[in-house]
Amino acid sequence: MLPVWFMRQAGRSLPEYRELRVGTRMLDACLDPALASEITLQPVRRHRVDAAIFFSDIVVPLRLAGVDVDIVPGKGPVLASPVRTDSDVAALPVLAPDALAPVVEGVRRTVAGLAELGHVPLIGFAGAPFTLAAYLVEGGPSKDHIRARTLMHADPDAWSALMAWAADATGTFLRAQVLAGASAAQLFDSWAGALSLEDYTRHVAPASARALSHVRDLSYPDPDRRTDPVSVTPVERNVPIVHFGVGTGELLRAMHDVGADVIGVDYRIPLDEASRRLGNIVPVQGNIDPSYLDAPWPVVEAHVREVVERGRSAPSHVVNLGHGVPPQTDPGVLTRIVELVHGISA
Ligand code: CP3
Repeated sequence: MLPVWFMRQAGRSLPEYRELRVGTRMLDACLDPALASEITLQPVRRHRVDAAIFFSDIVVPLRLAGVDVDIVPGKGPVLASPVRTDSDVAALPVLAPDALAPVVEGVRRTVAGLAELGHVPLIGFAGAPFTLAAYLVEGGPSKDHIRARTLMHADPDAWSALMAWAADATGTFLRAQVLAGASAAQLFDSWAGALSLEDYTRHVAPASARALSHVRDLSYPDPDRRTDPVSVTPVERNVPIVHFGVGTGELLRAMHDVGADVIGVDYRIPLDEASRRLGNIVPVQGNIDPSYLDAPWPVVEAHVREVVERGRSAPSHVVNLGHGVPPQTDPGVLTRIVELVHGISA
């Protein structure tokens, strides 16, 4: 059966989420283990998706390290003081693994809850160093990330120190989720599409590889092969790593080369073309265009069928959106897409 889940499936499209979030700030909700695990389970119960993604945010490790960052509703992450010079970078606080206790507890509770829903796997995630730097240097959301990209060229030493710091903070966050029970890890380099291939390869890819090195060695017992028929020892698999970015059609191969197993593709290029660019040997995830979700059902259905068809040229395909669920989406459409995808592949 083709697996399907949705980026931002836990969140504002669900009335049960909006109800739970009343009176709690976004980052406080992420750091409340009971709340974070309940919010993670909501879309699994409702849509019967094949994976949960932990309710958290890419800036959680920054907050836990002691960086003054908040998530402003309708805007996104905002920093009290942007990181713009080599001394700003040198002053960044190191993330202590103990600070991750609320994340570890949240993941543990979630995995226990998912066991009751049929052992649905949990995806842990983190932001890639460039996407984090895009917020750290700009101080908030931006269109072209020009200050971050200027620092990259104007002060390459400060830039690489910043990237190394971000790689270790985000890698520590990701590792904690996997050790607490997540069975896959997704690295979001949402804004990497702002980079040329050369800048990505030189100034960003080494840090993304460093972030992933924090989880590369982790494995889990294969649930389908709990024991090997010959040796009677459990079969261990490496935790699969998914790497996603928006507008990264030119970067797909380089994003695979940092050590990813699966490439998430946004909606700007068809999956068969993405797979071709990856040499037709890499599993892909994606790429239903979120702008279809509000269209009449026959239009949605035709689009989903086309995504599934084009995904057949990759060795395997995890159906998802090409970016996050828009807040105004009717959640009923998401449930219907899950039924459709499962029906096509049954
Ligand atoms: O369901 C899920 O996908 C898991 C939860 C999740 C959130 N953020 C919760 C969230 C995940 C995987 C993220 C990752 C994230 N955060 C990314 C990478 C993925 C992507 O969308 O490209 C990025 C770039 C961020 C930074 C960020 N945080 C943005 C751009 C925003 C949206 C701002 C807005 O209000 O439109 C946030 C806030 C945020 N993170 C919300 C949620 C549910 C909305 C806040 C709310 O509900 O009050």
